[in-house]
Amino acid sequence: MKKIIEVEVKSKKADPVAVETDLLVVGHFSDSKGLDKLCRELDGRLGGAISRVVEPGDFKGKEGSSAIVYGEGKVGAKRILLVGLGEKKKATVDTVRKAAALAANKAVEMKAGRVSLALHNALGGKFDAVTMGQVMGEGVYFGSFRYDEYVTAEENGRLGSLKVEVVEADSKKLRKLEKGVSAGSIIGRAQSYARTIANRPGNAISPPVLAEEAKSVAKETPGLACTVFDEKQMKQNGMGGVLAVGSGSKAAPRFIVIKYAPKAKRASRSAVVGLVGKAITFDSGGISIKPATNMEQMKLDKSGGVAVLATMKAIAELRLPLSVYGIIPSAENMPSGASFRPGDIVTTYSGKTVEIQNTDAEGRMILCDGIHYAVRQKCDIIIDIATLTGSCKVALGRYMAGLMSNDDGLLKQLQKAAKLSGEKVWALPCSDEYAEEMKSKVADLKNTGSKWGGACTAAAFLRQFAGEKKWAHIDMAGVDVFEKPNESASAGASGYGVRLLTSYLMNLASRKS
Ligand code: BES
Ligand code: MN
Ligand code: ZN
Repeated sequence: MKKIIEVEVKSKKADPVAVETDLLVVGHFSDSKGLDKLCRELDGRLGGAISRVVEPGDFKGKEGSSAIVYGEGKVGAKRILLVGLGEKKKATVDTVRKAAALAANKAVEMKAGRVSLALHNALGGKFDAVTMGQVMGEGVYFGSFRYDEYVTAEENGRLGSLKVEVVEADSKKLRKLEKGVSAGSIIGRAQSYARTIANRPGNAISPPVLAEEAKSVAKETPGLACTVFDEKQMKQNGMGGVLAVGSGSKAAPRFIVIKYAPKAKRASRSAVVGLVGKAITFDSGGISIKPATNMEQMKLDKSGGVAVLATMKAIAELRLPLSVYGIIPSAENMPSGASFRPGDIVTTYSGKTVEIQNTDAEGRMILCDGIHYAVRQKCDIIIDIATLTGSCKVALGRYMAGLMSNDDGLLKQLQKAAKLSGEKVWALPCSDEYAEEMKSKVADLKNTGSKWGGACTAAAFLRQFAGEKKWAHIDMAGVDVFEKPNESASAGASGYGVRLLTSYLMNLASRKS
């Protein structure tokens, strides 16, 4: 299999005007009066080449737009990429992340293997330098990502590696940028890893293969330990939800647990977090089979679990002072003579019984066992993430995930992390009215509600397995994939959740210390 593009992001003390590079990246606001200091200096060296693009309005600095100017031996860079940052007052850290992603995307497109980023320059002191470094690092990974492991045809020699440096002449600023860049690289690399695994098809990633993948991540990352329950151990523990969903497939289900314990002692005082991710390696719907159209997209039904796996890798590499469980129930949902059926009554790990009305509502059946596992491990905070319902996609579209919680504080913290990470959420309800719809006449619960509010009834089902613990649910069904490429991302798995969860945990860790 072909290796995905190797990316490296560093920082370097250098004058952006002089730095030798294939591509120098600078930002420009749409409402700025004239060019900023760096652009003016470059423009001067280039005999007005930048002004000639900006003045007639060929490049207006709109978000998502860009223009190229050639260095012609007059500056260190072969090319200069002007990236639009939109209106200055509207700029957020995500504006910078997206600009870096756009630049990295362009660099791969034009096979520029050496890129120098001076994007932070245009922002002055609007955001702190550590954050700037972090988001530029994340953005580079995000924008340069291509999933082409299985493409054997030599695509005209696509870039094998991309080397990026954030350039800054001021040493004091550089040190801060450097700190951010190294965190951003960890998070960016973890997200690209998530996108790679999520994109792999159902014939490559089965629950046992995913479990092996989790074990190897844990083995190569200090601070992580991985335990995998096979079918026999799941039976002994009574994990009936995962077992029911996995029963129809030749590939056996697995219950994957990754534990991160930091070295620092102070972690013992802080809350223990449980992240629970849905990892259905392929969702055919089972006996309640899905229509054929777009069914191939259901290889992405493991995205929540993969986001949890990649987040565990990131937080261990960041050495956050927090104890975290990554809990990944995994199964393949297939129709066969051994499948679970509509009408079946399943005893879940918690002891609660569930009447199956639709085998395609399988995500909640594996998550309820995962959430209960987190309760038993005495996690204080439980966050589950899943491609759970088509209704969430209908409600919110492709730009943000649904967020439900039983705790306002946790909800607010996740909203804050969403703002910082650029992985957006929108709060939806999961109150008692919705839970009422999930009551069964023949069991404690049933696995579907009425025709309406499917994202909310699904969340209300899950809420009941969290007991008194602080719990939140992220329904990422609408944001798991880019159907088409855009200016800052290629098509395929989005890696959604890695930045959001990591950002949440970074904030939680810094509050405790
Ligand atoms: N994995 C799907 C949800 C999904 C749909 C994710 C579209 C991404 C894109 C989930 O397992 C499912 O099939 N949910 C059903 C639930 C229904 C049967 C109550 C749905 O949303 O239709
Ligand atoms: Mn389903
Ligand atoms: Zn599913």
